[in-house]
Amino acid sequence: MAKIVGAITTSHVPAIGRAIAKNLQGEPYWKPFFDGYPPARDWLARARPDVVVMFYNDHGLNFFLDKMPTFAVGAAPQYNNADEGWGIPTLPPFNGNLDLSWHVINELVAKDFDIVTCQEMLVDHAVTLPLKLLWPGEGQCPVTLVPVCINTVQYPLPSARRCYALGQAVGKAIESWNSDARVLVMGTGGLSHQLDGERAGFINKEFDQQFMRSLIDDPSWTTKYTTAELVEKTGTQGIELLMWLAARAAVPGGVRQVHSNYHIPISNTAAGLMVMEPTAGAAQRAAQPA
Ligand code: DHB
Ligand code: FE
Repeated sequence: MAKIVGAITTSHVPAIGRAIAKNLQGEPYWKPFFDGYPPARDWLARARPDVVVMFYNDHGLNFFLDKMPTFAVGAAPQYNNADEGWGIPTLPPFNGNLDLSWHVINELVAKDFDIVTCQEMLVDHAVTLPLKLLWPGEGQCPVTLVPVCINTVQYPLPSARRCYALGQAVGKAIESWNSDARVLVMGTGGLSHQLDGERAGFINKEFDQQFMRSLIDDPSWTTKYTTAELVEKTGTQGIELLMWLAARAAVPGGVRQVHSNYHIPISNTAAGLMVMEPTAGAAQRAAQPA
């Protein structure tokens, strides 16, 4: 059966693509952000995932306001980058993992999740930039992909409780996949930010840090909040932290924090990163020495 090697959660901001394209990683503005990623890449070299299952939110690119699924799972052979224009100019398509996609879809539907299945799916900065930060080399990204999209764009949004349950169900599906693949779960979005309206620029460092700690100590902590409460605490786009919650929920049992970074601001956003691996016996099975 497949193994979940751990979870990586990270913010995604379109301007990161431009910073990569223009080689600005060492500039004072960007350095504290980009310096967060080498330890994550070192861990990946040990964890050696073959496949990434990624919880992310589309930003009106693949789904627009006329048709907005609450949860959508990719089952495409390839995912093309079609970012809004800020992204890295030349990115090859990402290879899908059709076998795992259909296994996850079948398991979710069997557990009463009414998902949308996407045999064609364009991806934006929420997918492309986190993969590029973790695998910065030229050419094809070395892992295959199963994207799981959660609506944070058009109300009503799914609750934290439901996203947690989705994450748990995806984790169980991965673990029951008849494969010897090593699977990394990712969640991209957040942390606190609000890009428009009266509270534009709103950031809540205290809540972000409490949220990050909770993923280690008390992973279902966020589920006590309603979506409206989470928007109040984190901003209209800070609600993207639901991706982190679903990703954490997909790792069964306890996790150990391998690495984290938190930096304010990138754009108007509190940018965070966490690397988590399963504790004890599970970790030994998952992350063998290099
Ligand atoms: C921005 C966009 C995002 O999708 C996000 O998560 C954070 C910031 C931006 O446009 O600055
Ligand atoms: Fe976003």
